[in-house]
Amino acid sequence: MLENVESLMLQYVSDVDTHATSLYQKIPKGKRLRAKLVLKIAPPVAESVKFAAIIELIHAASLLHDDVIDEATTRRGIPSLNATHDSKTAVMLGDILYSKAYCELTAFSPDIARKVADAVTKLSAGELLDVEYSKALQLDEAKYFDMIYKKTAVLIEATASGAASLADKSQEAFGVYGKNLGLAFQIIDDVLDITSESEKLGKPALADFKEGKTTLPYIYLYEALDEGDRQKLMHLYRKELTQEEAFWIRQKMQESGAVMRAVTVAQKLGREALDAIASDKNEALEKVITDMIEREF
Ligand code: FPP
Ligand code: MG
Repeated sequence: MLENVESLMLQYVSDVDTHATSLYQKIPKGKRLRAKLVLKIAPPVAESVKFAAIIELIHAASLLHDDVIDEATTRRGIPSLNATHDSKTAVMLGDILYSKAYCELTAFSPDIARKVADAVTKLSAGELLDVEYSKALQLDEAKYFDMIYKKTAVLIEATASGAASLADKSQEAFGVYGKNLGLAFQIIDDVLDITSESEKLGKPALADFKEGKTTLPYIYLYEALDEGDRQKLMHLYRKELTQEEAFWIRQKMQESGAVMRAVTVAQKLGREALDAIASDKNEALEKVITDMIEREF
């Protein structure tokens, strides 16, 4: 079924323009987490494939724009489109992908269309918050959660709840599952930025703090440090790190328990996700949670 989603995405882009198609074929496919989610929740019918393709096109568009905003030069282990071409090309391909996705979304019920459109509005507001919070050290945990809810979890929430609606299952329960999965996913992403190596991640490691992003492990680290080390950490904010400084951050992250604390929060969210759909016993959706928490990239 996932191959069907892949073909349909390509078909949708081919409907638009041949140049856009050749650019689209250059961007790496990624994990297709959202499509897998749809296919695990919704019935194996054409409508589900269509919904999955629409969501993945929107997600791909958001990453094209995100790499321009973050001035990232790699995505999933290869140079990003804004790096191989330019930001204008990446922005416009993103616009094509998401407006085509919206066009196809009009075939769905107003309820589903609104759910997805509302999620993308929040996604954009979340990215705007991410940009805003990257200008100065942001140590407020509640603000971090609000930002990652909008930036990452909201589209996964709409994906799961929309798929549940196609399956006549509880939209609310699956929405809670998707929301918690999304929050946990972003926290693990933020942890891996610190604990993983660049080769495994497919993007430079320890990039978040340099880009100005004070993620959950950094918030917990700051809380745990004494005044001297807090000053040292603040001095490294937005800075190109030397090997020693990178080593120091990683060591402090481990010995202070900051990384473990963030992983524990992600695990708790994972359990809450599963609790929400407990009456709908689904081993595939349980595996999505464990795979996501245990992943290395
Ligand atoms: C990745 O965050 C970014 C997102 C999950 C959302 C980006 C959203 C937009 C750019 C809004 C525009 C939306 C559309 C549909 C055009 P990250 O930078 O923390 O993760 P990364 O390390 O994978 O780059
Ligand atoms: Mg980014």
